[in-house]
Amino acid sequence: MQIAIDGPAAAGKSTVAKMIADRMNYIYIDTGAMYRAATYKALKEHVDVEDGAALANMLQHTHIELVPDGDGQAVLLEGQDITEAIRLPEVTNHVSFVSKHPKVREEMVARQQEMASQKSVVMDGRDIGTKVLPKAHVKIFLRASVDERAARRYKEQIKKGIETPLEALKKEIALRDERDSRQLGKAADAVEIDTTNLSIEGVVEAIMKIIKERA
Ligand code: C5P
Repeated sequence: MQIAIDGPAAAGKSTVAKMIADRMNYIYIDTGAMYRAATYKALKEHVDVEDGAALANMLQHTHIELVPDGDGQAVLLEGQDITEAIRLPEVTNHVSFVSKHPKVREEMVARQQEMASQKSVVMDGRDIGTKVLPKAHVKIFLRASVDERAARRYKEQIKKGIETPLEALKKEIALRDERDSRQLGKAADAVEIDTTNLSIEGVVEAIMKIIKERA
């Protein structure tokens, strides 16, 4: 069983995907974390994020692992825990440059398909329903307004003790939407859910209903 959840930055994909994976007892795969891990390494090793060939070459000796960790997922790069580091603004601000290169995407998609070939998965990202798992049994496309996504991110960060002005978050999200526009795709057979006025529970319930209908 494959469940694909796509949508723009901060649309609540990972929270919802994790909850669905828990309920179904499936593996959760955060594909954004893989692009973030590659970006983290490129920045650390001074690989030019505009150089697709150099990035693809770097990936040939880059080992990224996603491992279950309590409620979430830890990200390991060559065995080193980089779960927190890949959420820093430096990585967030560069990740769309890394993910735009076709050679980088080819490699990531192959890895993601391999991960999904063994077990039932809930995978979230931008191109899961269109490219990674085009035969997924359930495809969901989440949307939410920029204002709502920024407000959610703001609350999430306050809980972590970080205060970024709401306006700055709005700008960052709108900019990433623009930079990710080519990476993001809605499959023709995806069910679109606008989460702007829905609670997390409401979104999870809506998706669970779709899963039950298709099972
Ligand atoms: O989901 P998240 O915001 O963590 O993703 C980080 C970045 O990784 C996105 O902004 C996008 O550039 C890239 N990405 C992608 N394809 C995916 C998942 C993420 O290009 N399937």
